[in-house]
Amino acid sequence: MSQIIIPVDPFDYVVFGGTGDLAERKLLPALYHRQMAGQLTDPTRIIGASRSEMSHEEYRGFARDALKQHLKAGEYHDDEVERFVARLFYVAVDAKSDRGWPELKALLDEGKDRVRAFYLAVGPALFGDISEKIRSNGLVTDETRIVVEKPIGRDLESARALNRTIGEVFSEEQIYRIDHYLGKETVQNLMALRFANALYEPLWNSAHIDHVQITVAESVGLEGRAGYYDKAGALRDMVQNHLVQLLCLVAMEPPASMDAEAVRDEKLKVLRSLRPITEANADTLTVRGQYKAGASAGGPVKGYLEELEGGVSNTETFVAIKAEINNWRWAGVPFYLRTGKRMSERISEIVVAFKPIPHSIFGPSAGRITANKLVMRLQPDEGVKQWIMIKDPGPGGMRLKHVSLDMSFADRFEERNPDAYERLLLDVIRCNQTLFMRRDEVEAAWKWVDPILTAWAETGQTVQPYTAGTWGPSQAIALIERDGRTWHESD
Ligand code: BG6
Repeated sequence: MSQIIIPVDPFDYVVFGGTGDLAERKLLPALYHRQMAGQLTDPTRIIGASRSEMSHEEYRGFARDALKQHLKAGEYHDDEVERFVARLFYVAVDAKSDRGWPELKALLDEGKDRVRAFYLAVGPALFGDISEKIRSNGLVTDETRIVVEKPIGRDLESARALNRTIGEVFSEEQIYRIDHYLGKETVQNLMALRFANALYEPLWNSAHIDHVQITVAESVGLEGRAGYYDKAGALRDMVQNHLVQLLCLVAMEPPASMDAEAVRDEKLKVLRSLRPITEANADTLTVRGQYKAGASAGGPVKGYLEELEGGVSNTETFVAIKAEINNWRWAGVPFYLRTGKRMSERISEIVVAFKPIPHSIFGPSAGRITANKLVMRLQPDEGVKQWIMIKDPGPGGMRLKHVSLDMSFADRFEERNPDAYERLLLDVIRCNQTLFMRRDEVEAAWKWVDPILTAWAETGQTVQPYTAGTWGPSQAIALIERDGRTWHESD
C-alpha cells in the first residue's frame, strides 16, 4: 500500500533558533523528508534565524551536516539534499534589538502572499520579544501562523503570562502549541482504533475497563540539558504535556468530528475532570525518583547527581502517578502514569486493561484465564496488540492460552514511519490545529500539575533513588501493586 501525498502550496517557514539543537535534529530532517515525499512545492523556503552571523551558504552547509548526522542510513541523497538546501536562507536577527529585522522583512516580502509560519525553537523567555518584533516589523499577514515549543510555562501563572504575551500579537487560530507526542503515528492510531471501529467504544468505560497504564520510559539521561532539566524535572518535562495528552486521548468522549475545536473541547473536559492531587493524598498517589549510577544501553552510566557534576538536587527524573478521572465514564478506573530517564529500555506504551470475565465455564485443567488487554506501542516498534484467550491448539482437552493479535506496523506496512514533526510541521501550513494544544488545555493541565508540585514542596516529598537501567524506584511498583495490579511487562 502506498502513502497518499498531497502537495502543499509554497510557503515560508522561518525558524527562530535555526542553528539550535531542535532545528538540527528534528526540523530540518523532517522538512527534508517531506520534500523527498514530494510534498514541498517550489518556491517553498526555509529561513533560519538566530543571533550568530552566517551567510546563506554557511547555513546550507550547517543543514547538510545536520542531515548527514541525523538521517538514517540510505536517506541522504546528494541530489535531493542539494535541492533541499537551495530552499534554505539565513538571517542573523536579535530578538532584543532591531538587528536583522529589516533584512528578514525584505526576504519575506518576496513571498508576501504565501503561507508564512514562524517557528519559535527558542527558550520561552524570548517568546514575547520575538512576537513583538514580528508585529512591529509588519511581518504578520492574513496567512501567518506561529509555532511554539514547550515548555509553555513552569506553572499555571507563567503559562498564563506566556499565553497572554503571544496572544497580544496572534489570534488563537494562528497559534500552534506543539506537543510532538500528538504527531506520533500510534497516538493518531489511538483515535482511529477508538472511533473507526465499532468494537471498542461500547467497552470503553468503567463497566469493562479495569485500569489504564501509560508508560513513557527513556533510556537516555540528561543529554547535556542539565541547565533546563534540573529546573524542570520529569513532572513538568513529560507529564504536564505528553502523558497528560495521551491520557486525554484515551479518556475523552467521542468528538463530533476531527475538527480541531471538537477534539480539543473533549480533551479539555477530561483535564477538568482529573481528580486533584494535593498535600492530603500526594504521598499515596505519586512517586518521585532520581537515578543513581547503573548500567544502561549496554554500558555503565553515571548517576543524575554525577551528571550534574557534583550538584545537589531534589529534581525528579522519574515520576509515577495514580490519576483518576471524576466523571461517569471513568469513575473508579485508575490511570497509572509513569515516565523516567535512564530506565531499563526506551519504551512508550498505552495499556488498556479490561476487567476479568465474570464467570468461567472451564475447569481447573483449562488453566488461568487472563483478562484482555489492548496494548498500543508508541515506540519503538510501533504497533497494536490485542491480548485475548484462545484454545491451545491440538488434542488433549480444553486448555486455554493467552495470546496476542499482533499488528506491528513495520511488518504490516512497507512505508517508513514518519517522525512526529513531519506531520505537525505541515499541519501548521495546512491550517489544521487538531493535533496542537489550545490555550485553555495547556492551562488546565497546569491547574492539575501545580497542586502536585505544591504538595511535593509542602510535604517535603524527597526523590527515591533508583538504579539506572531499572524500572524506577520500588515505591512505583508498590503504587500499583497496592491495588492488586502490576505494571505491564512488554514482550
Ligand atoms: C521532550 C522532553 O519533550 O521529549 C525530553 O523534553 C524527552 O526530555 C523527549 O527526552 C522524549 O521524546 P521522544 O519523542 O524521544 O519520546
